[in-house]
Amino acid sequence: MIDGVWGDTVCMVTTTSQGLQVLYTRQQIAARVTEMGAQITRDLDGEKLVMIGVLRGAAFFLSDLSRAIQVDATFDFVAATSYGKGRRSSGAVKLIKDLDEPIEGKNVLVVEDILDTGLTLCYLRKIFLQHQPKSLRIATLLDKPSRRIEKIEADYVGFSIPNHFVIGYGMDYAERYRNLPDICLMSPENSE
Ligand code: IMP
Ligand code: MG
Repeated sequence: MIDGVWGDTVCMVTTTSQGLQVLYTRQQIAARVTEMGAQITRDLDGEKLVMIGVLRGAAFFLSDLSRAIQVDATFDFVAATSYGKGRRSSGAVKLIKDLDEPIEGKNVLVVEDILDTGLTLCYLRKIFLQHQPKSLRIATLLDKPSRRIEKIEADYVGFSIPNHFVIGYGMDYAERYRNLPDICLMSPENSE
């Protein structure tokens, strides 16, 4: 297969110019996000929505998903940490940026990049439910069910994947690679 490029011209990308293996191309991501947006639009049945993005990983997903949802929507963002600077989770979740707007009585969609152990979303769901929203749903672009520690499922899942560490389309390794347009597999050679 051909080497990947950073433009829009090559579709059959399997590796990027940095030698990273592509798991989902930007085209596959866009197609799936469009489907998810259509499903969420149907489920909302014309009701308003507050989308809560989990910083920083969900930034691109929220940006694209919100434009695929055809209802009156507003945004808010929270930030939580459960990971250190590398691949290993500390186990503890901490809220480092809270909601800016009240969500009481609102339809809330939590937008996350990846549901892994479930520690982060379990913690966030508990906090958000204390605010008594009208409804609370979760959309995650990726799901790694085999890694789950907490019992939690997303209402909308882009792709379910095996236990691989992934980067790109917002997802990082030690804050790097978030701006890769495709979702790639992290390899040991790239973790220096
Ligand atoms: P959880 O609390 O274990 O479910 O982890 C959630 C957070 O860990 C995600 O929002 C990501 O920020 C991060 N994370 C988990 N797996 C990966 C991965 O494969 N690549 C990049 N970040 C990940
Ligand atoms: Mg995250």
